[in-house]
Amino acid sequence: MSEGIALPPVARGTLLDEPARLARLDEALPQIHAVLAGETDAVALQATVACLLWETFVQANWCGFYRCVGESTLAVGPYQGTMGCLRIDFDRGVCGACARTREVQLVPDVLAFPGHIACDDRTRSELVVPVVCRGELRAVLDLDSPHLSGYSRREADAVLALVRETFDAGSIVW
Ligand code: SME
Repeated sequence: MSEGIALPPVARGTLLDEPARLARLDEALPQIHAVLAGETDAVALQATVACLLWETFVQANWCGFYRCVGESTLAVGPYQGTMGCLRIDFDRGVCGACARTREVQLVPDVLAFPGHIACDDRTRSELVVPVVCRGELRAVLDLDSPHLSGYSRREADAVLALVRETFDAGSIVW
């Protein structure tokens, strides 16, 4: 059995500079793909992605999924970090905006984002990525940070690519 992924230890809450964050991500991604290979259960995948991205993004104070339940509601799914809101309507917050538009939301300053939901009032920036499988929105992946500009466009692109490769397959059991 795997014991997780090997990355240099960095204290939770540290905001490394962008090159160091990208290097850490480059080191993590092949290991994450190797761990996920062959798994088709959506909850097992979500739990493991949340765990391993939490290890990778040391600047995060929350990392996990909100699942689509019903027409316009998200319910919290597997995550790491401080307690998250249990439900979020599509018309609220950064997660709601991602669910509504199906577009990546990269928010360098949540206080400047109209309708931001403060599940943890230390959160200063967010990255939210849509989880779409065969044309159907299944969830969003939310990464929060207590730092302003905690995530870059290149990190957003890499997370979106990981999510697509992991979840946009006909074999996934939702
Ligand atoms: N801040 C998010 C809500 C989710 S949590 O912070 C875990 C938002 O505005 O969508």
